[in-house]
Amino acid sequence: MQHFKAYLPDESATAAFGAALARALVPGLVIYLHGDLGAGKTALTRALLHACGHQGTVKSPTYTLAEPYRVTIDGRPGSVIHYDLYRMSSPEEFLDAGFREDFDGHNVCIVEWPEKGEPVLPAPDVRVLLSVSGPGRALELQALSQLGQLCLDRLSFAPNR
Ligand SMILES: Nc1ncnc2c1ncn2[C@@H]1O[C@H](COP(=O)(O)OP(=O)(O)OP(=O)(O)O)[C@@H](O)[C@H]1O
Ligand SMILES: [Mg+2]
Repeated sequence: MQHFKAYLPDESATAAFGAALARALVPGLVIYLHGDLGAGKTALTRALLHACGHQGTVKSPTYTLAEPYRVTIDGRPGSVIHYDLYRMSSPEEFLDAGFREDFDGHNVCIVEWPEKGEPVLPAPDVRVLLSVSGPGRALELQALSQLGQLCLDRLSFAPNR
């Protein structure tokens, strides 16, 4: 599957989708999260991390830019690293922090505001687009690599409406 679309009528639907995406993750996957302020990028990531077994809080790493989590990915121990590049001031900041080395084919990397990371941010396997639509959110996924297609093939999400 190369494309996936769904309507998320409320926050619980976003949470359910985050959990579904968690079950479809494969090690090394790079996910870009696109969407305006308040579109639901962090809400989706929070649900995903909880579904991967993380029990604490999940806040957007607005100032530290990155937050790693030890979780379970596809039944095995692994890491998800959550980025929020909204406040990144320059590409050098990303390189100097050593973030590129985190994209190592093992960690799952989820990036809010990837637009701010160009041109140093590694390419995505999956793009997630969230936009406000009526009371809810329109969701669209695009697979951009074989790994991304594998993830979308594994995705099982049926919105209950
Ligand atoms: N499907 C939905 N329908 C309606 N509201 C939703 C839905 N999903 C999430 N929300 C709400 O939208 C807001 C999303 O906030 P969130 O912090 O996740 O946005 P964000 O995209 O990460 O923004 P930022 O760019 O500021 O980091 C929350 O208030 C949440 O309750
Ligand atoms: Mg956010």
